[in-house]
Amino acid sequence: MLDYKSIIANKIKAPLETAELISLITETADDSFGDYAFPCFKLARVMHMSPVQIAEKLANEVELDEHIVQVRAVNGYLNFFVNRTELTWEVISDVFAARGSYGNSDIGEGKTVCIDYSSVNICKSFHIGHLSTTAIGSALYKIYSALGYKVVGINHLGDYGTQFGKMIVAFKLWGNRDIAEREGVKELQRLYVKFHQEEPAHPELTEQAREWFSRIEKGDKEAQELFEFFKRITLNEVKTVYERLNVKFDSWNGESFFNDKMAEPLQMLREKGLITESQGAQIVDLSEYGMSPCLLVKSDGSSLYATRDIAAAIWRKREYNFDKCLYVVAYQQNLHFKQFFKVLELAGFDWAKDLVHVAFGMVSLEDGSMSTRKGNVVLLKDVIDKAVAKAGDIIAEKNPDLSDRDKIAEQVGVGAVLFSALENSRIKDIVFSYDRVLNFDGETSPYLQYTYARCNSIIAKAGDYKSGKVAGDYRTLDNPETLRLIKLIGSFPQAVKDAAVKYEPCIISALLIDIAQAFNRFYIEHRVLSDDLAERNARLQVVEVTASVIKRGLALLGIEAPDKM
Ligand code: ARG
Repeated sequence: MLDYKSIIANKIKAPLETAELISLITETADDSFGDYAFPCFKLARVMHMSPVQIAEKLANEVELDEHIVQVRAVNGYLNFFVNRTELTWEVISDVFAARGSYGNSDIGEGKTVCIDYSSVNICKSFHIGHLSTTAIGSALYKIYSALGYKVVGINHLGDYGTQFGKMIVAFKLWGNRDIAEREGVKELQRLYVKFHQEEPAHPELTEQAREWFSRIEKGDKEAQELFEFFKRITLNEVKTVYERLNVKFDSWNGESFFNDKMAEPLQMLREKGLITESQGAQIVDLSEYGMSPCLLVKSDGSSLYATRDIAAAIWRKREYNFDKCLYVVAYQQNLHFKQFFKVLELAGFDWAKDLVHVAFGMVSLEDGSMSTRKGNVVLLKDVIDKAVAKAGDIIAEKNPDLSDRDKIAEQVGVGAVLFSALENSRIKDIVFSYDRVLNFDGETSPYLQYTYARCNSIIAKAGDYKSGKVAGDYRTLDNPETLRLIKLIGSFPQAVKDAAVKYEPCIISALLIDIAQAFNRFYIEHRVLSDDLAERNARLQVVEVTASVIKRGLALLGIEAPDKM
């Protein structure tokens, strides 16, 4: 699309820098007042006139051309009308020229972004609490890739800690491989709970667990082998969910990967005089920054979560030379990230400013079932299964003759679950409701998919329409409903960039909902398959670009768009 703001800024003869003029120009909310507006209030002091007078003076000085066809001074504003036929032509040709990759750009070329997301814990279930990190991280992965960045997706596994010593003891006493293979993480969890139930009456268990843990650390063969067994069981389960969600990682280097990489950073922090002793432990005092100390080595010599994150950040910088490293982790860990980012900054790493905690709120289910403490977790897999089953029922009712129903139900159910984590700004807590996320008429992913399928069926009905061809008379498209839809589609590339800059996939989801709603209004007001061929052809192009942008937007969110529904 033409850069209308720059074109307009160059036409305003006011004593301000072009960049500032551009920043003041906004899109109008109501097309009947023009397409862009420039407020003159700021100029009053410099120009010693009232905003109303300034607007009138400036309006007289604007030179109209083929892009800007009219200007009006209204209550201290300059309102500009663009050549709407040209605007429509521009948007439609941009979408067609992109051939399915509308919104892509090369602004990220040569830059690398690491995204630490999902980051599951070995021997623990993959539950609804992991939905947001997985959905947001994966969407950011796709968004940054579309903008030309090199992206490194990292699953920073929780695969280190004394709990694995306990797991081995429990497994040797009460478990066996066949059951674990069959039952998966559920069985591992059962053993872990049993260990804690038995421990008070059998204190020797604690000592045994400690021993096994230190054998893991020393690389003892049996201990390692058992740990790898638990890891395989956990990841097998998690990976089937990732496949359904269309989520990918480039690195699975988790906490244990950094076991032998902490000595160097610790030594460096000591040399810089940042580490102090406190009751036998080694800490970095952060009281000056209003934070509790960052604990790095316990009195028994063992390292902590933060120690491994510090080592991991330094390692990632060396390995990938990232321009940004994002951590998509719940806001409960705010303090942890602030602390270790600060420690790296104090250590003199100027790239500490490129570490970003992309925080998000909590997910709970409508019936309140989300209490991890008591162990009755809601598995992500179960939520997806249920959403898919319900989607299948709805589709069967709406469209009983549809072939491929199972596949489409999967796409709709999975999409609904993902979208629930991507529709609002990250930081909001979410209450998940099956009925809400699967409402085909609501602001949901099924609604977007349904609109996409409807566009396809209109095009299929048209028969002789040549798709992907910019042609015809766009004057028939100069009406408020079409203009609104075209403008929204025209703003998609900027929305993709904004989503990346703000780490907010919801900027894309919200725009898609607006586009689908605008499309449905357009469709009600204007008969697409009109008998007037010029009109019909132009309108079909609007349908086609709508379909294209919805499909592309959904893909950036990790959601598939079935052709039929
Ligand atoms: N495994 C951790 C958890 O479940 C999340 C890890 C996030 N990434 C990191 N580098 N700290 O809480």
